[in-house]
Amino acid sequence: MSYPYQLKSLEEYKKAYKESIESPETFWSNIAETFVWKKKWDKVLEWNFIEPKIEWFRGAQLNITENCIDRHLATIGEEPAIIWEPNNPEERTRIVTYNRLHKRVCQVAQMLKNNGVKKGDRVCIYMGMVPELAYAVLGCARIGAIHSVIFGGFSAQSIADRLEDAQAEFIITCDGAFRGNKDIPLKSVIDDALIGNKTVKKVIVYTRTRTPVSMLKGRDLWWEDEMEHAETQVEKDGVVSFPAEPMNAEDTLFILYTSGSTGKPKGVVHTQAGYMVWANYTFVNVFQYQPGQVHFCTADIGWITGHSYIVYGPLSAGGISLMFEGIPTWPDAGRFWDIVDKHQVNILYTAPTAIRSLMGFGLEYLNGKDLSSLKVLGSVGEPINEEAWNWFHKNIGKENCPIVDTWWQTETGGVMISNLAGVTPQKPAHATLPLPGIDPVLVDENGNVIEGNSVSGNLCIRHPWPGMIRTTYGDHERCRTNYFATYPNMYFTGDGCLRDEDGNYRITGRVDDVLNVSGHRIGTAEVENAINMHSGVVESAVVGYPHDIKGQGIYAYVIYENTHGDENLTRQDIMQTVSRIIGPIAKPDKIQFVKGLPKTRSGKIMRRILRKIAEGEISNLGDTSTLLDPNVVDEIKNGSLIS
Ligand code: WTA
Repeated sequence: MSYPYQLKSLEEYKKAYKESIESPETFWSNIAETFVWKKKWDKVLEWNFIEPKIEWFRGAQLNITENCIDRHLATIGEEPAIIWEPNNPEERTRIVTYNRLHKRVCQVAQMLKNNGVKKGDRVCIYMGMVPELAYAVLGCARIGAIHSVIFGGFSAQSIADRLEDAQAEFIITCDGAFRGNKDIPLKSVIDDALIGNKTVKKVIVYTRTRTPVSMLKGRDLWWEDEMEHAETQVEKDGVVSFPAEPMNAEDTLFILYTSGSTGKPKGVVHTQAGYMVWANYTFVNVFQYQPGQVHFCTADIGWITGHSYIVYGPLSAGGISLMFEGIPTWPDAGRFWDIVDKHQVNILYTAPTAIRSLMGFGLEYLNGKDLSSLKVLGSVGEPINEEAWNWFHKNIGKENCPIVDTWWQTETGGVMISNLAGVTPQKPAHATLPLPGIDPVLVDENGNVIEGNSVSGNLCIRHPWPGMIRTTYGDHERCRTNYFATYPNMYFTGDGCLRDEDGNYRITGRVDDVLNVSGHRIGTAEVENAINMHSGVVESAVVGYPHDIKGQGIYAYVIYENTHGDENLTRQDIMQTVSRIIGPIAKPDKIQFVKGLPKTRSGKIMRRILRKIAEGEISNLGDTSTLLDPNVVDEIKNGSLIS
């Protein structure tokens, strides 16, 4: 495959950027021409940020799986699409060619059809990182069902809320998932999530861990049986086929839940055509992907990074996507380097948390590992500090590999601000320049645009781009108020940002009540709700604090009815409650018991003060005169868990 829109020099980038801002419609229609369409568009872009309404490639019809699979079969059908590395290094690697992927995706589509799944139905996917997860995602897309992948670390309660919100009728899961030395009983979590559920009709279970599971008659089915049956239907005389459903450009492709500043996660909706073009364009340009290269994105498909840069980006480019089932530190902290060596990985895309954690294990895990295949390194999910950037650059990239620091969000569908590997300049800890089509602006609290360089403000985006969020599932007003109401005619990212003297952007972190723990977005309100469910808890307030490895840690101030018992046991009980309600990723790192919380006279918690104390900045708390009871601040300061 060739990528005529791949930018090869700084000049080409500048030219493309200028064109994309001056005539976005011509720019994007030229790129879209290179994809496979069942019907071309009547209008490239129709939009307003007031409702908001965003329509790209209106009138067009396509199926994204034809772009990710069918169009490659004649040329690279026997080349790998997915290389799968199991959790246990002793187990065999699986190589899935494009032909094989085609067959499996057709089978899944047929299996879904056999079980009554129709275009537009919501299918929830809760699986470990096995190739079958990719087949499931693409199988849904093949028949036009909407997939909603839920990360394997979420609890039954979180899944139940998402099933309810999406009104999901089908689930695809596994008996269990291997992660390091753990075996996570996914099907049993699903069983708990389904207590009281009224919409789910069928649960399809893929066998991975052979953990005992209970299978409910009439509802639960084995993947293996269903796929075998489907195989006889899709394969005739050695020819595999399953018609790719013609989808309108703006039909929903998937829902992905993410945290915001309220207690309830929101279902971010992405659509067919714009998302496809954006995932592909950003993949090809940011990583400067060359045909035949092995791309290793270490994210889980339960997050947007996995959707865009394990599945849709690489496959739409006819690339080789390496999918890893396990974790970076098992069997030891050299696992990533073993994988790079074993599969001759060319592009490694990971998170600052993983880098900082591996840094902490020392360089001996690099001994004897051949990393010379690496050409490009990437970072995503949270700000990367200079120390981690330098370590990655020196020890992994051997000072030969550009590092792309890619800033983006679940809502943006793909990378928004990043250097292009080896093409535009990099600067440690800076995401640098916007991609073509992206018009970033910094604004102050009053919405005034801050012009010029060496300034900071809240990051907004001025014009639509193909991969942007279209709505929040089932609640368009929520999409409007969350993203389009804070500043008129702009998409508000929720991030704070600096623009340096050369116009490079540096993301400083969230300016709303969203935490970023190990690159996972967690709403403080969600954690508070979960803590408050523990009996004995009267009230709580959650803030973030700087954490050496996770970027941010979770600090909870809790008013507890009866602190006569063992405080440490109570802490553990509260953590257990959060783990059960949301999942282990949301467990507080520190819990401080307090008698009161600093509140204004109108009853609003002054989080600014709590944040300062959690950051260890107790000497300068700013103005506390508006507090109802300023004495609580001293009590909290004295009991602070930060030394
Ligand atoms: C943060 C992940 C600094 C940011 C793709 C954003 C980053 C949130 C970077 C989105 C980066 C992501 N530098 N911060 N390179 N990338 N973020 O939705 O705060 O899981 O708003 O999407 O992560 O997280 P999400």
